[in-house]
Amino acid sequence: MDVSRNKSRIIVTCLKRLTPWVEKEISDLGFKPLRSFSTGVELHGTVNDCIRLNLNLRCASQVLYLLREFPARHPNDVYRYVKEFPWEVAIEPDGYFSVTSNVWQDSITNNLFVNVRIKDAIADRFREKTGKRPDSGAELNGVVVHLYWKDNRALLFLDTTGPSMARHGYRKQPGKAPMLEALAAATILAGKWNRRTPFINPMCGSGTLAIEAALLATQRKPGLLRSSYAFQHIVGYDPACYEEELRKLKNEVADFAPEIIASDIRPEAVAEARANAKRAEVEHLIRFEVCDFPDTTVPSGGNGVVYFNPEYGERLGEIKELETTYKRIGDFLKQKCTGYTGYVFTANPELAKKIGLRSSRKTEFYSAQLDCRLMEYELYAGRKT
Ligand SMILES: C[S@@+](CC[C@H](N)C(=O)[O-])C[C@H]1O[C@@H](n2cnc3c(N)ncnc32)[C@H](O)[C@@H]1O
Repeated sequence: MDVSRNKSRIIVTCLKRLTPWVEKEISDLGFKPLRSFSTGVELHGTVNDCIRLNLNLRCASQVLYLLREFPARHPNDVYRYVKEFPWEVAIEPDGYFSVTSNVWQDSITNNLFVNVRIKDAIADRFREKTGKRPDSGAELNGVVVHLYWKDNRALLFLDTTGPSMARHGYRKQPGKAPMLEALAAATILAGKWNRRTPFINPMCGSGTLAIEAALLATQRKPGLLRSSYAFQHIVGYDPACYEEELRKLKNEVADFAPEIIASDIRPEAVAEARANAKRAEVEHLIRFEVCDFPDTTVPSGGNGVVYFNPEYGERLGEIKELETTYKRIGDFLKQKCTGYTGYVFTANPELAKKIGLRSSRKTEFYSAQLDCRLMEYELYAGRKT
């Protein structure tokens, strides 16, 4: 078995509710999605296809390559089936691996127990076959073996990603309640922005939305900002395939972007956003401003988009204060953003009502387990409120 060339099932996982955008990204790459479910998309391909997916997808979390599927009622079944698998095709005897799992099985209360059984099964097989065993540990910096076990069915994967690709690597300073990069990218893809008109992001915090907008406009893919993946440690890894994909990504970059403006009232937030943009290599494409949000520059006749991700508030006092903020956001959109489409991403529907504009669309998302909406407002002159 040569996993670089053998086709198998591939599951691309993502945050709940990001599936439509991951599916579209996969199709745009020329792959054929076979099935979508709430946290992922299935397709067929080789580990070399996984390399392409890892480097290109903005909205996904992991790319999993199926090794085998088996019935399992008890951890001993898992041990037996895992030990039977010819691990020599995936892990070097003197290599390093780690194990992760998602388990929904009545007999299991702690995933760590299952992970240890899998680790033992792999180590025991190597010891019996070769007299030595690869190292293992919790750090995801070698081959990553992943088990999905639900009821009586188990699927054993190579996680070709390692640390989640939902983070795009440029945000070393997370700031106040930042959006996950994959989620920020999906909220932009869910809107109407055509990547040629202005993108305005008041209340930018650590700058995630503005940075993702700049990455999208210039066709910079996440693979340009990351150099370490689990697939690089799999037996038979094809460095030429990775180099070729990287070369394509570099060739695709268009260093033209429309006006992208990011502002925040806290100078330290703007400094963080600027440092993050620098790491993402898009600092030169974003105009940063320190100001109260209604003073953010909105180019007239711009016909672009305005994205807000205000705080949602947890305590009552905060919520009272935020009611005024949300009302001011509505006034700003009405008075200063004619011709634009406005977006507000929030987990608080009551606060969203204070915006005082009729939304043309609401798209459902999740952020940190919270039910969220991306509210869309058409801001044409003479619109109904
Ligand atoms: C939820 S955070 C935004 C997080 C951002 N999307 C990110 O990914 O980092 C909200 C931001 O709004 C800013 N903010 C609050 N009130 C403001 C105001 N009146 N004018 C401008 N910015 C404000 C805060 O400083 C904070 O950085």
